[in-house]
Amino acid sequence: MSWFNDNFNMTWSQNLIMRILKLGPIPRHIAFIMDGNRRYAKKIGITRNFGHLKGFETLSMILHCGLKLGFKEVTVYAFSIENLKRSKDEIDELMELAKEKFEKLLQEKSMLDKYRIRIRVWGNLSFADEKLLQLINYITCITKHNENATLNICFFYTSTDETVSAINALSNIAAKNIFDINNIKDDIIIKDHLFTKNSLDIDLLVRTSGETRISDFLTWQIGYSCLYFVDILWPEFTIWQLFKAVLFYQFNYIAIQKLKKQLTQALY
Ligand code: FPP
Repeated sequence: MSWFNDNFNMTWSQNLIMRILKLGPIPRHIAFIMDGNRRYAKKIGITRNFGHLKGFETLSMILHCGLKLGFKEVTVYAFSIENLKRSKDEIDELMELAKEKFEKLLQEKSMLDKYRIRIRVWGNLSFADEKLLQLINYITCITKHNENATLNICFFYTSTDETVSAINALSNIAAKNIFDINNIKDDIIIKDHLFTKNSLDIDLLVRTSGETRISDFLTWQIGYSCLYFVDILWPEFTIWQLFKAVLFYQFNYIAIQKLKKQLTQALY
């Protein structure tokens, strides 16, 4: 299964709805907590690993449709540091799947170049083994000049870990007397050390599977994002669900923009 499935054909009704949605505001940056692969596997009686593979198929559909809808940036929670507490068997399976999929990304470089897609991996890569690290470094390096769209894959990620790294980086800079650590007046200086420093604001965060938690995902970044929780397991999330999420964003768009404007005016 390819990452950016060029052969995914939308039906005429899906095409029609997409055109209608595109008359309204489309989230430029959308993030996903892809939850429910194992419950899906249990529900339909397949192996856990096959459940994760089905989850990957959903991701591929999202990426393909996202390009057509005009998303500029997609961020996915692929593996959290908390997931390291799972059984060794499952971690091994997920690491194998990740390596296989990163290798596939390398094979699909022409597609990444055709659509000018940049791949970034956000997380604490000290947890990655040599092979995974090599693949990640290679794919991020060869796509870094692509600027039409960006896929951020959060791997060995938690927001807590990201914040701790940012604070460590800041205290290192302060130790060199580049700035006074007692004189931090706003959060901009911290934001400058987060993975998202060169990213668009997150417009919409989607979490599947009926859980209504954020699970330590991008907590600095989603203060004013539109949050959409849906009671559908990730492998069952369809293009229609994606349209519904975008529609939810459109319904909330004016209120969120108003709030962001008020906040900017209050600050400056
Ligand atoms: C959450 O469902 C899913 C994951 C922890 C793994 C997600 C991975 C993929 C979709 C494969 C993509 C791979 C790459 C490299 C991007 P869960 O396992 O927590 O299921 P549950 O909520 O039913 O327990």
